[in-house]
Order: sequence, then C-alpha cells, then structure tokens
Amino acid sequence: MRFITAFLLIVLAAAQQAVWADAPDGAKLFAQNCAVCHGETGSGGIGVPLSLPSFQATVSNQYLAATIRHGRPGRVMPAFTRLSDAEVDAIVRYIRSWYHGPVPTYTDAPVKGNPEHGKQLFAEHCAMCHGADGQGGKGTGVTFSRPRGLPIMPPALNNGGFLASAPDAMIRAVLIHGRAGTPMISFVKAGLTKRDIDDLVAYVRSFRSTEKTSAAGSVAGLQPDLIVQSPYDLKTTLHNLTQAIDSDNFFVGRDQPVEYGLTTPDKANPHQVIVYFCDVPFLNKALAIDPRVGLFLPCRITVVEHEGKVTLMAVNPEVVSKLFNNSELDELCKEMHDRYLAIMQEATL
Ligand code: HEC
Ligand code: HEC
Repeated sequence: MRFITAFLLIVLAAAQQAVWADAPDGAKLFAQNCAVCHGETGSGGIGVPLSLPSFQATVSNQYLAATIRHGRPGRVMPAFTRLSDAEVDAIVRYIRSWYHGPVPTYTDAPVKGNPEHGKQLFAEHCAMCHGADGQGGKGTGVTFSRPRGLPIMPPALNNGGFLASAPDAMIRAVLIHGRAGTPMISFVKAGLTKRDIDDLVAYVRSFRSTEKTSAAGSVAGLQPDLIVQSPYDLKTTLHNLTQAIDSDNFFVGRDQPVEYGLTTPDKANPHQVIVYFCDVPFLNKALAIDPRVGLFLPCRITVVEHEGKVTLMAVNPEVVSKLFNNSELDELCKEMHDRYLAIMQEATL
C-alpha cells in the first residue's frame, strides 16, 4: 500500500512538472504581442503604460485578461482572440511581475448612483480629457503624438472593450485613487464626495459602446488597390502625374524604378516606376494620429507600362488603415483615398 502511494506521488509529481514545462512563457508572449506598443518593460509607447504601480494597484487580473481578449475596438488596442486562456494568463502574470503591491479583486455588483447628476459632473470634471461623450483623447499612448502637457492619452470610456472589461467597482476605485504619475487624479482628493463618485460611475456605465468598428474584417466592399488606365505613354503619364501631384498641394519627392536597389541601376526595368510624394502638414497630422503611418507614407503611386498599356496603381489607404484598429486613422485614410483617386484621374484626363 505504501509502495503504491509512493508510486502515485511520483507519477503526480512528474505530471505536475510536465504541466509546468508546458506552461506558456508570458515574457515571450508579451514581447511578441504587446511590447511593440506598450514597451518591453511596460513603460508605454503607442499604448498606455502598464507597469506604473498606480495602474497596477487599481486593476484586477480579470480586467487585464478581459482587456487582452476584447481589445478596444477602433482605439488601436487589438483584440487578441487567438491566444489560449493559458497564454492570456501567462501574459497577465508577466505584467504583474513588474509590481509588488496588493492585487485588487472586484465583484461585478453594480454601483448604484444617479447617472443624470453623473453626467453633469462628467461635463465639469472629465470631458476635457476623456471627451464630451467619453470617446477618449486623440492620438495614441505616450508617444510624441500626444498634446503638450498631457503625458498619457486619456483612454476611451464609451468603448465596448473597456465597458466589457471594467466592473463598476473598478471604475469607482480608479476615481477614488486616481493613477499617480498620470494626469488621472484622485477625485476624492479633488473634493468630490462618495456619492458624486457613485453618480459618475453610474454615468460611465450608461455609455453605450458607440465606437466605430475598425477591424480587418470590415474591408468588405473596399477595393484593395486603386487602378487607373492612362491613355498616354509612360513618359507623358509620369509628367502629368507630377503635375497633378503638384496641383493637389503635395510635393513630389522622387521617382525611381520599382526594382531600385534590387538590381544594378542599368538593369532595373524602366517601364515600372514608383512616384513618391508628400504633403508635410498632412504627414504630421497622420503621424499625430498614429505613428505607424510611417509604414505606408510618404504617398506613392506606381506607373507600369506593359505591352504598350500604361497603368497607374496605388494601394488603397482605406484598406491598409483597417489593419490598425484606429477609427481616427480610418477617417484620414478615406481622405487620402479621395486625394489619390483625384490625382490619378487628373493625370489620365
Ligand atoms: C497596436 C498597439 C497595441 C498593441 C499591440 C497592444 N496594445 Fe494594449 N493598448 C494600446 C492602446 C493605444 C491602448 C489605450 C486604448 C485607448 O486609448 O482607449 C491600450 C490599452 C491597453 C490596456 C488598458 C490600459 C488601461 O489603462 O486600462 C491594457 C491592459 C493593455 N492595453 C494590454 C495589452 C497587452 C497585454 C497586449 C498584448 C497581448 C497589448 N495591450 C497589445 C495599444 C496596443
Ligand atoms: C487631466 C486629464 C484627465 C481628467 C480630467 C480625467 N481623466 Fe481619467 N484618465 C486620464 C488618463 C491619462 C488616464 C489613463 C491613466 C493610465 O495610463 O493609467 C485616465 C484613466 C481613467 C480611467 C481608467 C480607464 C482605463 O482604461 O484604465 C477611468 C475610468 C477614468 N480615467 C475616468 C475618469 C472620470 C470619470 C473623470 C472625471 C471625474 C476623469 N477620468 C478625469 C486623464 C484624465
């Protein structure tokens, strides 16, 4: 009997070890999925900081896990639907490894308050940062795109991802304690009463998720590329294109063969040319909205001559934008799409 018990214990220990060996590596998962925006040590970037003790002291593990799952539709933070529960938990444990204080837990019990009064208080104390309807600040995270004097972008509160992740009790705790080291102050210290705080929580809870969805799935009906045939030869088309770009207030950066850098200059196919152009105020506006626009700006149009036919082509910025889950960027890329098409049409009139 004793032998069997000892044997069972060994088997159990071995099984336990196998579980540990298979446990996902939170540090690695964070590096792969989150660090690009939140920084390798959670100090923030395109995303808000995650390592601040004042942040960690007001959020539960459940909130972190739910936020990873839901993301923040239209607000850059992606929804990670493909990670397993064990992987999400490993990421949450890794985020907690930066913090040594007590981890709060919250119940789902609703906080009772007067949302009408909360609405008035919100207009007075919160709207200047979180927006009149809780839509959040413009731009992203803690990058240079933030307005001066605001070191961290106020998150959207009317966002379905936030509302589905944060229980009332957590929102109340954030209002009571604030987030030291960020613009989010303690509203108890600022003089609001417990009842005011509850009214504010009730108002925030009354937000419907009004965010515009911007997901890779919503490209249905959009052309992935813009293609316009030119009635002219390559040289005339390039000349017209340069003029059209110029008259649309862009300046032409350079043009070069598509194969530039891939082969020696004399071998690059002269019948495939990329024209780069830029509008500096527009570029700055785009960078302020999302620094990742560097991936597809400056603007470019490719002109190809094939079997005597000349074609102008550009990637549709509206489609590219959908990869970024940023509804502000979507609006800008719609404008860019219209300007691309206008230029391409003018060049081929
Ligand atoms: C493409 C950039 C990007 C990636 C990748 C990203 N995030 Fe975010 N994250 C953001 C932004 C931006 C916000 C703020 C949203 C807002 O302003 O409403 C945010 C918000 C959050 C929040 C809420 C913070 C708060 O103040 O309550 C958490 C938690 C979070 N992210 C965790 C993660 C984790 C964990 C990963 C990886 C699994 C990740 N994020 C990947 C950009 C990103
Ligand atoms: C001066 C600007 C400012 C004001 C005013 C302000 N906030 Fe914030 N708030 C922020 C910032 C910035 C954050 C993100 C802090 C961080 O990175 O942890 C934040 C975070 C929050 C969060 C947590 C959201 C999340 O995703 O973690 C809630 C809830 C919140 N604020 C509600 C309010 C309410 C309600 C008011 C008015 C009583 C208010 N805030 C006033 C700037 C502000």
